[in-house]
Amino acid sequence: MSLLERFRPATHISLPQGSSIGFRWGTLSRQRRTSVGIDFGAGALKVAQIRWTRQGARLENYAVVPMDPGRMEEGAIKDPITVGELLKATLAEMGLTQMMVGSSVGGPNILVRHINLPKVSEQDMRAAMKFEAPQHLPIPEDQMVYDFTPVPDVTGIPEHQTAVFLCGTHKKLIDTHLAAMTRAGVRPTAIELDCLTTLRSLEALGVVQTGQAPFALLDFGELGTRISIMRHGVPMLSRTVPTGLHHLRTALVDSLQIPAVEAEQHLRTKGVADDVDLAPAIGPWLSQLMESISRSIEFFLIQNRGATLGRVYMVGGGAMLPHLAETLSASIQGVLAGRQEVEPLRVQPVGLSGLDLNPDLLPKVTEYGSILLGALGSALREGMPE
Ligand SMILES: Nc1ncnc2c1ncn2[C@@H]1O[C@H](COP(=O)(O)OP(=O)(O)OP(=O)(O)O)[C@@H](O)[C@H]1O
Ligand SMILES: [Mg+2]
Repeated sequence: MSLLERFRPATHISLPQGSSIGFRWGTLSRQRRTSVGIDFGAGALKVAQIRWTRQGARLENYAVVPMDPGRMEEGAIKDPITVGELLKATLAEMGLTQMMVGSSVGGPNILVRHINLPKVSEQDMRAAMKFEAPQHLPIPEDQMVYDFTPVPDVTGIPEHQTAVFLCGTHKKLIDTHLAAMTRAGVRPTAIELDCLTTLRSLEALGVVQTGQAPFALLDFGELGTRISIMRHGVPMLSRTVPTGLHHLRTALVDSLQIPAVEAEQHLRTKGVADDVDLAPAIGPWLSQLMESISRSIEFFLIQNRGATLGRVYMVGGGAMLPHLAETLSASIQGVLAGRQEVEPLRVQPVGLSGLDLNPDLLPKVTEYGSILLGALGSALREGMPE
């Protein structure tokens, strides 16, 4: 138990069953030089707090709090008041005092595009984008929010042009996130694309380096799986497949007539091995998911002739399912047989190893490794506070 537990005052706020928080801050001044990231997920709300030390970032505190079903839909928060109250209770339970936080959004309603524009100053590009963005994103202009970034080192485009990554969505989706955070009493310094916050975590963990060859990033969530193929620090391809842990769990509940908690336990212990009990129920969902992932990778390779893909990184709660990496590896190799000239693809779940961890969080936090990478990446964006 953390020493800080001793400072814990009586509280009337109760978080849902299954919540896990590191500890409650006792000495508020110790929160200087820390920053906070928030990740609203359909299965759980995640909070990560990092401290900046001379060596770099250290995970100082965290929370993983289950969300009731139906609170999120395709990346939007359906009930910002309830979710905002849940965030408020979580932050209170952690004893956090930060007002400013980093956050992210994802899902099928976030649209990404790659375009080429004339090489101009950033200011001119920003002005040009007011006209360009509505041409590329099928969202009414007055309801659109977008952002963009020039992508360096892209080959095969005309001399006088530059490659630009554009990403946009409906204002009303972002508004649901803003409303929940406002309700909780915090303000976002940024709401980023989820695969970019995760990428920042992978870089901080030393798993990937910017400029490295393209790699796939798979986020196995509660309601969906996000497939991103990252290159030059941006997603070259980004797709959300509407199959997540919820579908595997529900298939088990229906076919074995067991409670959801038991189904979850089965999944966490047996995973997606070819188990006689589980395979008939989850098999169809699993093969559909494996097929979608493999086909997306194949699509990327067809679209980008000459490109190779050496690594697949798995994040999100589902990345911790036993045997998922082997199953996925076999499926992708099957689809790519004869297409990849290079070494066989390596599929790897990413956890928190490589990250400096507050010893007060151990050993519990290791259970949440791949779930916390989104919130961690948002906290990392905040940089070192003044
Ligand atoms: N240790 C574990 N082993 C296997 N599965 C786990 C583990 N921990 C959590 N999960 C499962 O992973 C699911 C997805 O977790 P995650 O927090 O990544 O989803 P989410 O971000 O809330 O969902 P979405 O991305 O769809 O909004 C959880 O709902 C849970 O069923
Ligand atoms: Mg998620």
